[in-house]
Amino acid sequence: MNSITTLLEQAVKQAFAACGYNETYGTLTLSKRPDLCDYQCNGAMAAAKEAHKAPMVIAGEVIEKLSGADCFSEVGAAAPGFINLKISETALASYVDEMNRSEKQGLTIPETALTILVDYGGANVAKPLHVGHLRPAIIGECYKRIAKYMGHHVIGDVHLGDWGLQMGLIIMELKRRQPSLPYFDPAYTGDYPSEAPFTLADLEEIYPTASARSKEDEAFKADALQATHDLQMGNRGYQALWEHIMRVSLPDVKRNYDRLNVSFELWNKESDAKPYIRDMVADMTRRGIAHYDNQTLVVDVKEDTDTKEFPPCIILKSDGSYLYATTDLATLVQRMQDFHPDRIMYVTDKRQEMHFDQVFRTARKASIVNADTSLEFYGCGTINGKDGKPYKTRSGQTPRLEALIDEINAQMLKKINENDNLDTAEASKTAGLIGLSAIKYADLSNQSAKDYVFDSDRFTSFEGNTGPYILYTIVRIKSILRKYAGDHPEETTHPILPAEGAAQKELMLALSRFAPAVTQAYNETAPHKICTYIYELSNAFNKFYHETKILSEPDPDTQSSYIGLLQLTRKILEDCIDMLGFAAPERM
Ligand code: ARG
Repeated sequence: MNSITTLLEQAVKQAFAACGYNETYGTLTLSKRPDLCDYQCNGAMAAAKEAHKAPMVIAGEVIEKLSGADCFSEVGAAAPGFINLKISETALASYVDEMNRSEKQGLTIPETALTILVDYGGANVAKPLHVGHLRPAIIGECYKRIAKYMGHHVIGDVHLGDWGLQMGLIIMELKRRQPSLPYFDPAYTGDYPSEAPFTLADLEEIYPTASARSKEDEAFKADALQATHDLQMGNRGYQALWEHIMRVSLPDVKRNYDRLNVSFELWNKESDAKPYIRDMVADMTRRGIAHYDNQTLVVDVKEDTDTKEFPPCIILKSDGSYLYATTDLATLVQRMQDFHPDRIMYVTDKRQEMHFDQVFRTARKASIVNADTSLEFYGCGTINGKDGKPYKTRSGQTPRLEALIDEINAQMLKKINENDNLDTAEASKTAGLIGLSAIKYADLSNQSAKDYVFDSDRFTSFEGNTGPYILYTIVRIKSILRKYAGDHPEETTHPILPAEGAAQKELMLALSRFAPAVTQAYNETAPHKICTYIYELSNAFNKFYHETKILSEPDPDTQSSYIGLLQLTRKILEDCIDMLGFAAPERM
């Protein structure tokens, strides 16, 4: 379906052409003064310059030509030359009615579906997920869902960190505690035990202890680096320990993402890039793209136009160990082979920007990616506390993701228990759904790259620009539709009739803006545009609801038309929150 603006524009363009002006002057925008009109056209001012006429004269000519157009109920001019237009109730109703009967509410999806790989989440195995992982998970999941809704072929990859220093630290800490385990005996050739020598709870304690130790104990740190290197080079005992760590830790990582309603098509890991590293490095070296500098293999990525420092991208450390960039580059080799993506989107903390700049430049220089594959980095801003510094718990620690979710859910449960009588099981499930909406909406309604302040009282409020407010609106609609269906069990799409009052028209105008909002959110990679849109739509709906008796409306056609509006509003709100990555309960 064409957007409603495009449809209306056709009439205005024709009018400009009929008056002898270029039809491109007939472009429409949403009105900046909704009290005066629904749409405006600023073309008379531009045409005036070219035609050496007064803008008001041109506006007058165009308005004259538009006087018969039945898509407008009112057309007028305002100084210095604006053309103000009100859409007619019939044109709006037939548009909105068609939306209600169309798949995806008439959204036009691009003709060619792209293959898009979204690298997000980025959990590190054996390290608990903390608040810093929240945004890349929520935002990446949302990018993915919006792109899918737009009809693209989208693959999400968690790209687990499983090969870095954290593994060496854990291995060395284990060795310190249980030196007689066979994993540490180089002479051991038998099978290793199938049971891990630690539990998840142990791991959660081992990593922070080892990490703290490495900051005080140089020798321990050196051993951990060596162990990381040995693991990467295939040390048998360490490899077996790595497998235990993966087995114990992965289900917990998955459970955390499940709680966030975040899921991945691919559970690839840094270490999966290993088979690609040797050839990649050999090729870069042979072609002179990489060179040794002090025994470190590097690629120079500085460009003449750079205004900031651009250090070389390090491919191999002097002992031959791989770095973060090495696996990211080899992962690109793998991704090109497996998927030939048109776009690869990386979503991480914005402090990783330089790393990705270096990786992207190296990948281009070494022709690892095709020229027509776009590499895109999306850095997420920080979640701050009310003091403006990165969010910490009362005891000054970086909060665990779980704890944060639990805190919001508990707050939510308290609220719904205050005003409702849901049974315990439903209450806790509902609290989980609303809690998630609070967290995700708060995150996504802020621009991804900007920092924001974590304010659980505000996020969990049922009023204002919050997730719970949107859910509340959906639940309200569902409840009316349920009651209506009680007396009208047949399922149909109800025909939407022309608006009778201002609130109804405003709701219909808000509904008609669905496709542009989603398209813009996709084109600009800006989920906050969807949040702004559904907030406006919810406000328009609630205003209509307060002014309209829906269930007691005596005229069946009018009532049915109201129900049509409710159906469409619900569908749009539910599709939008699904793109944002949360869902609404039946009751709340
Ligand atoms: N594991 C990394 C971290 O915690 C994030 C990974 C992001 N993706 C990537 N391809 N480097 O910082």
